[in-house]
Amino acid sequence: MHRREFLVAGLATLASSRALAQMKMDDMSNMDSMPGMDMGAGHDMGAMSQSAVALPEGEALRELPLLANEATSPGQFKARLTAEPAVARFAEDKDTPILAYNGTSPGPLIEAFEGDRVEITFANRIADEASTIHWHGMPVPADQDGNPMDPVASGSNRVYAFELPEGSAGSYWYHPHPHGKTAEQVYRGLAGAFVVKAKADPIPAEYGDTVLVFTDLRLAADGSMPENTMTDLMNGRVGDHVLVNGQKNPKLSVGVGAKRRLRLYNATNARFLKLAFDGAPMTIIGSDGGLLEVPVAAEEILLSPAERLELIVSFEKPGPITLYTLDYDRGWMGAGRPADAGLTLLTVDVSEIPAEPLPPLPDRLRPIEPLSAPAVSRRLVFTETMTMTATDMQMGFLINGKAFDMARVDIVAKAGQTELWEIANKADMDHPFHVHGTQFQVIEHERDGKVSKPTYLAWKDTVNVARGETVRLLLRQERPGPRMYHCHILEHEQLGMMGIVDVQV
Ligand code: C2O
Ligand code: CU
Ligand code: CU
Repeated sequence: MHRREFLVAGLATLASSRALAQMKMDDMSNMDSMPGMDMGAGHDMGAMSQSAVALPEGEALRELPLLANEATSPGQFKARLTAEPAVARFAEDKDTPILAYNGTSPGPLIEAFEGDRVEITFANRIADEASTIHWHGMPVPADQDGNPMDPVASGSNRVYAFELPEGSAGSYWYHPHPHGKTAEQVYRGLAGAFVVKAKADPIPAEYGDTVLVFTDLRLAADGSMPENTMTDLMNGRVGDHVLVNGQKNPKLSVGVGAKRRLRLYNATNARFLKLAFDGAPMTIIGSDGGLLEVPVAAEEILLSPAERLELIVSFEKPGPITLYTLDYDRGWMGAGRPADAGLTLLTVDVSEIPAEPLPPLPDRLRPIEPLSAPAVSRRLVFTETMTMTATDMQMGFLINGKAFDMARVDIVAKAGQTELWEIANKADMDHPFHVHGTQFQVIEHERDGKVSKPTYLAWKDTVNVARGETVRLLLRQERPGPRMYHCHILEHEQLGMMGIVDVQV
């Protein structure tokens, strides 16, 4: 990021905003110099410590523990989730204090069915910090959605209750959303997958259904998780290790000829994952909000923070097959850009023993009705700002020139009405845009005057808006109440890149 690309705003406009990061110049002496800026002698920025603690690799992929359904009558899902401090063992002989749901990180896998009535009692046992559970992507009422406006105080409980409508099957997730603490609570371990299953699933059961939750871990030499640095606040926290279900490069074993249904979750704070399997063809069958209309072959996929994809992967030759990362430049401020390419996330051991023959994938998965004829259009412009004085530097990530204010409604919308949202990224980094309460349809990307259409129609709740890009999407909120929209680089959300749409009947 170059200085000239900043909007250097007068202090008067920004100094009053509580949401802006404020850093004393002392902290800045830790920074490597940014191009065009004199930051003084810098050393380690934290994000890319060469001395990363080694983690064991190659253990059998563990399935995520299922959250037990305590309900006794059919059509009900009842359970408890407790957020609490726990200790994890990522590296040998090193204890890592984390935050966990029911003692595990990622949290337990929640599996419920379309039509179910869900009732989850949340207990916040995090010392001195409020929390919430947000049901990312799920069609739940606004007052059950774990918004920052509805904090659950440390030591108290609350019940989240909602119904899963017909047609809502998809790969959702849950994570905390308290004001100013979301980023930290998530990187310390609070996130889990919530799969809503269809009553009649068109994907044959023989393909299995494996959830892969990607998280990002940084460990200090003593095994603890370091606090966010200035670099983390600017770019979003990127760790030293990408984990799959809490493990580094775990091993999955299949017979030759096997096809597996995999649900990939990017639950990292800020890491963009461009992925491919070497030598195993991928077919995309689902997005954030459930199945596509038809399967789509893919050479590589980009999962920006908070996005999910459902894949069928065919293991046609014996031997090890890896799921690995490719280079993706999402825009990086300052030094210490992490190496994106060449990380092995998962190794699939394909044995010579042939897998059971599988029924074919259906040609059509489900109909998706295109949203059409928006009644309203809106434009959201993303910018980054920095203000400097002799003693302070303040970073801001803004939408339409404003940092988040919980007391302000940014947009008033009407329930049931289709809207066109145009998200223009005028900043120097990619920003994955997310809105609560509904699923949307991306209709257009525009960059350098060139307009392109997405290759398939899909229900999504998060879409990457690359720097310099404009994304147009159609959106309809069915349920009334205030909803958040924000960048899902959680440090950016925390530094102001969030707004409230109030949906009225
Ligand atoms: Cu994943 Cu506002 O949330
Ligand atoms: Cu969300
Ligand atoms: Cu962002």
